[in-house]
Amino acid sequence: MGWNSWNRFGPFVSERLVLETADALIETGMRDAGYRYVVVDDAWHESVRDDAGELVENRWAFPHGMAWLAGEVHRRGLRFGLYTCAGTRTCQGYPASRGCEARDARRFASWGVDFVKVDWCHTAGLDGEPTYRVWSEALRAAGRATVLSICEWGRHRPWEWAPALGHLWRTGPDIQDTWASVLDALDRQVELHPFAGPDHWNDPDMLEVGNGGMTDDEYRSHFALWAMLAAPLMAGNDLRAMSEPTRATLTAPEVIAIDQDPLGRQARRLRSERGAEVWVRDLADGSTAVLLLNRGESSGRVGFARSDLGPARGALVVRDAWARRDVGELGERHEVALAAHACALLRVRRA
Ligand code: GLA
Repeated sequence: MGWNSWNRFGPFVSERLVLETADALIETGMRDAGYRYVVVDDAWHESVRDDAGELVENRWAFPHGMAWLAGEVHRRGLRFGLYTCAGTRTCQGYPASRGCEARDARRFASWGVDFVKVDWCHTAGLDGEPTYRVWSEALRAAGRATVLSICEWGRHRPWEWAPALGHLWRTGPDIQDTWASVLDALDRQVELHPFAGPDHWNDPDMLEVGNGGMTDDEYRSHFALWAMLAAPLMAGNDLRAMSEPTRATLTAPEVIAIDQDPLGRQARRLRSERGAEVWVRDLADGSTAVLLLNRGESSGRVGFARSDLGPARGALVVRDAWARRDVGELGERHEVALAAHACALLRVRRA
């Protein structure tokens, strides 16, 4: 869990933005809710490497340098992340790491970087698995415990090899701040649940919650779906100026608890009928998370049967994870009325 600059700020990153965001993580309660990593995405660089061949930060945007900035982030009880690219240039055209992986990994470690996102622009002729193997070994050799975020957009079926190399891997193209894009990212996850588990996660991409292109209901569904998918929760909005519904969504404790459940099982889609979907996820305490989604364009009822959860085991209690209250004992069937694009997130446990 953390924050990444890209979805909201694109190439307009700076030391000031990072520090203000780190402070906002604390003031808004997001750090306490579990958000830890502050990640600077593309375009933090000078346009060329220095004479020694090292990557250098843009001195106007990062006047005190990355090592200082990482220290400031650490001082706030947070962790610091940076972006690079496996190809010859980053997606924004800055110097990237092809052929310099060991050097760049050492540079990042010396700055105190805790999380490295490695992107896939300008990689003609490269294959996914061997390229990220080089990265995985370079980070290990650099001697600092670092999260490796693999970002080859699902091109080489990363779920099949990335668990051994990195901690999360993108499963598709860049998310957009639209409902269609959320559904596209969601549908790519249907077959991928067997590949996720503790320390190795499918990444349907960073959150768009609070960026303005969707309704609050849509953002709640986006967030709850990512929680069901055990997805990395990387906020991608301006944390310094959030609406209360946005803050409440991003910090919803029982939704985050489902995302972060220690069993680490990614949800399965149990049913999809005319826009009504049921997703289920087993949780460490023996309870089951059930998400009911109305993908359709008009309001409707979505439900599940008790038998969907397996053989009968005595009385079960349904809890609403958004409202944080029990809603009653589970009967033969449980149904809710949902507005278009809304969802219900339930936790079903033994009475
Ligand atoms: C690619 C990645 C994005 C972002 C941009 C930065 O598109 O998939 O997440 O890092 O590059 O240029």
